[in-house]
Amino acid sequence: MQEYLTPLSLFIILYSFPGTGGQSPCPDPEAIIPCVCSHNETLATVTVDCSEATSSEEIFSAFNDADWPILNLTSFWLERNDRVEQLPEGVFGDVTFQEIEVSRTSVESIDPEALLPSKDRLERLDINNSKLKEFPFEIIAQFSILTYLSLGANELTSLSSFQSSSLETLGVAGNQLTFFGNMSLPNLRSFLMSFSSHLNLHLRKNEIAVVNEESFRPILEVISNVTGNIDLTDNPVVCNCTMAWIVLNPAFLTKVTGSCTDGTDFQDLDPIDFQNCVDRIP
Ligand SMILES: *[C@@H]1O[C@H](CO)[C@@H](O)[C@H](O)[C@H]1NC(C)=O
Ligand SMILES: *[C@@H]1O[C@H](CO)[C@@H](O)[C@H](O)[C@H]1NC(C)=O
Ligand SMILES: *[C@@H]1O[C@H](CO)[C@@H](O)[C@H](O)[C@H]1NC(C)=O
Ligand SMILES: *[C@@H]1O[C@H](CO)[C@@H](O)[C@H](O)[C@H]1NC(C)=O
Ligand SMILES: *[C@@H]1O[C@H](CO)[C@@H](O)[C@H](O)[C@H]1NC(C)=O
Ligand SMILES: *[C@@H]1O[C@H](CO)[C@@H](O)[C@H](O)[C@H]1NC(C)=O
Repeated sequence: MQEYLTPLSLFIILYSFPGTGGQSPCPDPEAIIPCVCSHNETLATVTVDCSEATSSEEIFSAFNDADWPILNLTSFWLERNDRVEQLPEGVFGDVTFQEIEVSRTSVESIDPEALLPSKDRLERLDINNSKLKEFPFEIIAQFSILTYLSLGANELTSLSSFQSSSLETLGVAGNQLTFFGNMSLPNLRSFLMSFSSHLNLHLRKNEIAVVNEESFRPILEVISNVTGNIDLTDNPVVCNCTMAWIVLNPAFLTKVTGSCTDGTDFQDLDPIDFQNCVDRIP
């Protein structure tokens, strides 16, 4: 059969994919099974879907052992998969993405070195309804154009200190968060204001009892000048003096959604009741 591949037929094969320099952006489909690479010419997107993978090794092999004609792809998908438990170091080889979506999976951990190759290209990272126990928040600062980070409905217990100058939406609803680190968003406010954008922080259904000033003030200072809110619905928030800094500041109070353990909606808290919290401080 080899002799049928004359120079003319090779020419036709190589030049039959317009717009990609004569090359399909996807590897030989056989070489990446069970992953599937699809090129949408209308949208100019290249998506790799590894939802049929039965192990991390299969995903690793698809990216590391196949020949990828183009390394800067659009999306990676892993959905409804109960076999893959981790995305290890180097899992995507030299391939980078604008968007990574992991949903309804058994993924428990993600190595920082799985994500870092995409640090200059990743705009959207959504890992939801999975089993994540930890997330490498410390690397987020390096993701220069990441605007959307959603880690909803996982098993995270802490949101460690991190910073980002690009993030607009952070979703961590439906975890078991009890620890909330300092979020340093030094450039976020000018970014947000100059684009009159919004910031939403989804903290629903966690275990936050104290809305401590050290962690939340920087975020509320940003949000108070733009659209957006902090959603604390379904958290065991204790409305004692630790809430005074919010209740006594109308600009902050309107940006916080949720209620106290005694059922009082935050919006119905009376500043007068909290006045003596500050009076007590010498
Ligand atoms: C490409 O995307 C467009 C817009 O979403 C869609 O209508 C079309 O069916 C897609 N083409 C392929 C080959 O999937
Ligand atoms: C991918 O990289 C090539 C070469 O650097 C560049 O021409 C192309 O615009 C990039 N595509 C995307 C989607 O970033
Ligand atoms: C979970 O992720 C999928 C894929 O990114 C997305 O379509 C869906 O809206 C997400 N669900 C939630 C509840 O965020
Ligand atoms: C948060 O910042 C304060 C003040 O800079 C510091 O004292 C505290 O240790 C930080 N907390 C965490 C969890 O990093
Ligand atoms: C928010 O706006 C107020 C008044 O418009 C201003 O004094 C304050 O510095 C702004 N805060 C931030 C964080 O930009
Ligand atoms: C407020 O309640 C929290 C949670 O129960 C507790 O840790 C904290 O000590 C209380 N603070 C004050 C000032 O009462």
